[in-house]
Amino acid sequence: MSSIRLDNLRKEFKEVVAVTSLTLEFADGEFAALLGPSGCGKSTTMNMISGLEQQTSGDIYFGDKLVNDIPPGERGVGFVFQNYAIFTHMSVADNISFGLKVHKVAPEAIRQKVNEVAELLQLQKMLNQNAGRLSINDMQKVAIGRSMVMEPRIFLLDEPFSNLDASFRFYMRGELKRIQRETKQTMIYVTHDQVEAMSMADRIAVMDFGNLQQFGTPDQIYNQPANTFVANFIGSPSMNFVDCALREEDGQGYLIQKGGEAKTPIDDKRMRLIQQKNVGDDLILGIRPEYLSARDQPNGGVAWSGETYFVEPLGSKTIIHVHVGEDALQIVAPADDRPDIGAGQWISFDPDYVHVFETGSGEVIR
Ligand SMILES: Nc1ncnc2c1ncn2[C@@H]1O[C@H](COP(=O)(O)OP(=O)(O)O)[C@@H](O)[C@H]1O
Ligand SMILES: [Mg+2]
Repeated sequence: MSSIRLDNLRKEFKEVVAVTSLTLEFADGEFAALLGPSGCGKSTTMNMISGLEQQTSGDIYFGDKLVNDIPPGERGVGFVFQNYAIFTHMSVADNISFGLKVHKVAPEAIRQKVNEVAELLQLQKMLNQNAGRLSINDMQKVAIGRSMVMEPRIFLLDEPFSNLDASFRFYMRGELKRIQRETKQTMIYVTHDQVEAMSMADRIAVMDFGNLQQFGTPDQIYNQPANTFVANFIGSPSMNFVDCALREEDGQGYLIQKGGEAKTPIDDKRMRLIQQKNVGDDLILGIRPEYLSARDQPNGGVAWSGETYFVEPLGSKTIIHVHVGEDALQIVAPADDRPDIGAGQWISFDPDYVHVFETGSGEVIR
């Protein structure tokens, strides 16, 4: 079993707490992403899983086995770093076969495995070339091949493509996902790029400041963010946020904009929760730009009155920036939508798409 369980994992570097108290379980054969801004503790987490870094406290299990005291070389973990680690004076084939030779695998078996890996990574034609002469893209493929050929049950990749050019990165995303489906390894992929995480992973662990913010499928992370950090970090353009207070009129709850007059009905369930928590004065309404429409007439659902102040034609779509009271919002509109600057707009949306967060903790209310 190659599930990975982190139990209250913590890492301190003197006064810096890199990882606070991480409890997280990756399933056997899962493609998981560890996503968060630079410095949030992703690499430290990976280094603890591989054993390169010893945790300050907490436990790591592979399956049912506690691996805290098992040295890195014996954990059966493959690791690919951001900076390709290859032998530049050796051929591609020698690089890929290096670990197998160290483990005294028979030459015929080595040849076969190297060929298999080369085929998966499309390195067949380069096997006899000097690895130091390859493009950076191909060097990183060799680094992946070197780890992959050992068939680790657990494969950790720490921002492996961030130094590579965009088209190759895009290509490798698809390839890596395909390879993982084939090998059924437990793969953890570290990235600060939400698109990369969303496009590849079965589940995403979102981190900030050494803390886990949410662990879920791309759909859950996108559609049911646990807090304002996740809501803001995932999606481009980001979710719109409007400071609001709850007001009850004839039994119906409304979120009333603080810096303006926008008014949004909410369901009974959330109104009761807000009242129970006694946080009605300090709420944040969140709505994604793609669920808003801007028209000169209300367009069904709820409609707020606003004004266009900036229009970004992006080819496949248009981003319309509007002011609603004191809040600046973004709307993803069809490509041919080009409202005039300064024009009055009705911003319409289905209130089912509204998220409500507590201002203090940032936690969602649902
Ligand atoms: N060896 C180290 N010594 C001191 N501080 C470190 C060390 N490694 C990481 N840190 C700190 O721990 C925090 C998390 O770092 P890291 O895990 O590398 O983040 P990420 O990979 O998400 O960018 C940062 O504040 C970083 O400066
Ligand atoms: Mg890192």
